[in-house]
Amino acid sequence: MEFSTRDGRADALKGQCLLVTAESGGRLGAAARAIDANHNGVISAALKRGDLTGKSAQVLSLADGATRIVVVGLGKLAEASEASWLKAMRAGIDAVVTSAAQELVVCLDGKPVRRRDACWYASQLAQIAIQTTQRVDQLKSKREEVAKLVKLAIWVEGEAEQAAAVRGLRQGKAIGEGASLARELGNLPGNVCTPSYLAERAQALGKEAGLKVQVLDEKAIAKLGMESFLSVARGSAEPPRFIVLRYQGSAKEDPPVALVGKGVTFDSGGISIKPSVDMDEMKYDMCGAAAVLGTLQAVARLKLPINVVGVIPATENMPSGKATKPGDIVTSMSGQTIEILNTDAEGRLILCDALTYTKEKIKPLLAIDIATLTGACVIALGHVASGLYSNDDRLAKELLDAGHTAWDRAWHMPLWDDYQQQLSSSFADVANIGGRPGGSVTAACFLSRFTRDMKWAHLDIAGTAWVSGKAKGATGRPVGLLTEFLISRSGGDRSAAA
Ligand code: BES
Ligand code: MN
Ligand code: ZN
Repeated sequence: MEFSTRDGRADALKGQCLLVTAESGGRLGAAARAIDANHNGVISAALKRGDLTGKSAQVLSLADGATRIVVVGLGKLAEASEASWLKAMRAGIDAVVTSAAQELVVCLDGKPVRRRDACWYASQLAQIAIQTTQRVDQLKSKREEVAKLVKLAIWVEGEAEQAAAVRGLRQGKAIGEGASLARELGNLPGNVCTPSYLAERAQALGKEAGLKVQVLDEKAIAKLGMESFLSVARGSAEPPRFIVLRYQGSAKEDPPVALVGKGVTFDSGGISIKPSVDMDEMKYDMCGAAAVLGTLQAVARLKLPINVVGVIPATENMPSGKATKPGDIVTSMSGQTIEILNTDAEGRLILCDALTYTKEKIKPLLAIDIATLTGACVIALGHVASGLYSNDDRLAKELLDAGHTAWDRAWHMPLWDDYQQQLSSSFADVANIGGRPGGSVTAACFLSRFTRDMKWAHLDIAGTAWVSGKAKGATGRPVGLLTEFLISRSGGDRSAAA
């Protein structure tokens, strides 16, 4: 998808496909009024007929000669929020995508959402356009038609607004394409997206984006002493992979930000096997890994002046005669012994070794792990916010802010010592489960035992990485949050200057 900005007179927009907005009660903004005046009053006529009321997310497609005009309702402006504006824009762009239009000009009319600037609107529009044109039918023998829409322009007045929109489009394109990569990988079935496949895709990304990529096989993983990680892979016929990607955007000696993604390409639960209902959705258990790859792609395309390392432990979790059994005890890379009381709590078993590797071998400025870690997080926060844990309140605040800016939000959860006792084991240093109460918290507490002396945050994305039901699919979250965090960490996007 190509993005650009436009300004100038409304009559220059004749013959295009235009998206304009109306408020509840049919009030039109300046851009919509100018376009209406240039097109024989087709919008005001629709208002008069009663076809257009401006109610929230209403979409009306009009035409005047060759000009297509899609009017989107924003509802009452006083009640407009990020959520209502995004919903309306998604509906409008969706209508354009199902038409034959190849290019869309979105006419920004004022600032319907408080405290948001042209950069934000532009970034979100780019992301929506990329998402609504993405197809998930690669594996159908009869594929749907590809979307005709290939260009999106934003019409906005004023030099400062133009510059902000240009920056927003650049960021939104990078984030949108990163999220798109994460969705593509997430949606792939477990028999295609195996640990080796993830490693191949990481290597391909490295070639294309200029990252250094290292892939460790079982032997190399064993040599590092990652017995906890290997205990999860033991039941599977697919060999595990440990993937490290390095992006260098600043001086070589600058310690990097490390992103550690859970890459369980299928989670059957192992010997503590899961119920059959919806088990297919456990192909999404590598969405943390996918988010790491998507974010690295975005960071590389934005050429951010920062060093970032991606770390991905990739494995299946399967039952077999060789699989780890409940009660088995393993020694993690950190030296701590773990009693595996439930083989379905496998995410923390691979992450603890990946975090130890990160701390000891990469010595990062800070580390963030991203994992579809617990069903309990879905119970706590539903499908709206990712669960955020950190041993550093300033880092937590930065991540919360980044999530709010990117509209890919997280919620700060407690990591208090009081929860740690739930993980006590009679036979090992720690148990891998802490009972049902606060299941997302105790999972984070487990990880915290491997991240001492390192600035660290954990994002539990079990509720936000994919949607179930009719419109099933990976969301690409939290590529937006992570990329925004890295943009602000690296001193903001300087693309306008570059
Ligand atoms: N991948 C799952 C978590 C999950 C479950 C994410 C459902 C999204 C939807 C994880 O490996 C897991 O199975 N966790 C267990 C932990 C329990 C055994 C302590 C869970 O949440 O049930
Ligand atoms: Mn599991
Ligand atoms: Zn899992």
